[in-house]
Amino acid sequence: MRILYLGDIVGEATINVLKNNLDSIKREYGINLVLANAENVSGGLGLTEKHYKELKSLGIAGFSMGNHTYSKSEIKEYINNATICRPANLNTEYGKDVLYVKYNDKKIAIVNMLGRVYSNTPLDCPFKTMDRLLNEIDADKIIVDFHGDATSEKKAFLYEFAGKVDAIIGTHTHVQTADEEVYKNTCYITDIGMNGPYDSVIGDDIDSIVKRFRTGVYERASVAKSEYYRINGVILDLDTNNKITRINLKVRV
Ligand SMILES: [Fe+2]
Ligand SMILES: [Fe+2]
Repeated sequence: MRILYLGDIVGEATINVLKNNLDSIKREYGINLVLANAENVSGGLGLTEKHYKELKSLGIAGFSMGNHTYSKSEIKEYINNATICRPANLNTEYGKDVLYVKYNDKKIAIVNMLGRVYSNTPLDCPFKTMDRLLNEIDADKIIVDFHGDATSEKKAFLYEFAGKVDAIIGTHTHVQTADEEVYKNTCYITDIGMNGPYDSVIGDDIDSIVKRFRTGVYERASVAKSEYYRINGVILDLDTNNKITRINLKVRV
């Protein structure tokens, strides 16, 4: 089974970029199933129902989120019936902690976990939450999107759960790392990167972010506009011998 997992989709303009490019990528790489992180779609923060439906219509089967899961509060109204998993260690009644997606006769469990290092959100322990979920999950394959800043936390999570899940892929930094590996048959990468404007500060408008750093004054930045876009993610071949391959493309709108 060959899965394309796309990194954080940043800004609604990226939906159009994916619309223009996803089919050819799927054909070129022989992709069976597409999954994505969707925490930054709507104006760079959160996911409206409209944008969720647009991404679904592109054939993306399931979505994980992150620290911006509830940035658009309307998600509370539709998340329970959507193919979205919320961070499993964020204790709330809105959304599910495991998303099951089917491909042929195989059942894939997707888990989203938030890192606690540098996080100001009250969170349960990701390690203990994963212990609990492993007792509950009934699936052929398990993929964990570990959404966090610290490389150490993600790497420790790999060593703790290697051999127990099929993939641990990092998100949140929006910058793809080159440390993909397979350890005890668990695919791992610290960050799969982002899908969004190429010339940007992790998706946001360059001038606004430079100004923020120069003045020390926080003003909300908008998603950057760019001639080119990044398409970042990984291909996960989940069979007897699991395999991970990075995807890092520069495309026009
Ligand atoms: Fe993000
Ligand atoms: Fe994030």
